[in-house]
Amino acid sequence: MRRKLAVLALALAATGCDFYYNDIPSPDDAMRLVPWFDGMYQQPPVFPYQRLDVPRNTVPGTVPITGGEADWAAEFGMGNTTTADKLVNPLAGQPASARGDTLFQTFCAVCHGQAGAADAVISAQVAAPSLLTDRARGYSDGYLYSIIRYGRGVMPRYGDKVRRDARWEIVNYVRQLQAAAVAVTPAAPGGAN
Ligand code: HEC
Repeated sequence: MRRKLAVLALALAATGCDFYYNDIPSPDDAMRLVPWFDGMYQQPPVFPYQRLDVPRNTVPGTVPITGGEADWAAEFGMGNTTTADKLVNPLAGQPASARGDTLFQTFCAVCHGQAGAADAVISAQVAAPSLLTDRARGYSDGYLYSIIRYGRGVMPRYGDKVRRDARWEIVNYVRQLQAAAVAVTPAAPGGAN
């Protein structure tokens, strides 16, 4: 036994550890030589969600977090407000949230001004109207929600950046700005206040 150990120690001393790293095949290479293991590298793909015969019903007690919301972009884009006006604001009657404030300052204030009065530096250049006019006050909550989601004319859409609840929070914030301000006369169409 002691002699075997001595031989091993000698072999190590003579060849160094490199032998084990460079000259002995890696266990991974050895695995590939075994046909059964080879199958692990070449498995057929499985698409568990693509079979029509597998029911994908919503689990009771859960709600879908994607899809679901109807799309009335075409209708709204043509100036038809039927669907928009029918939307129910789930936050109706609630005070504006801090998040609504933050989102408005992030996405809207650059064109409509910090208080919605169209007094931002670029308000006139982009012809962004005041949100404190009687006209803007007269829109339904659903209309404000839709214009945030889809944009209108020169105003870009924000639906891809602001999700559902957050849009309603912006709506409530606009309502709060309107309540805090005295109504001003709307600008001529396309003009800036
Ligand atoms: C890039 C500048 C810009 C930004 C940012 C912007 N808007 Fe507008 N907004 C406009 C312009 C321009 C119009 C006028 C569009 C038109 O002529 O149809 C408008 C129109 C509106 C109107 C209709 C006003 C009216 O009297 O008819 C509302 C309401 C409104 N925006 C709300 C918002 C809200 C809320 C946000 C933030 C999510 C926002 N806007 C972000 C440029 C902008």
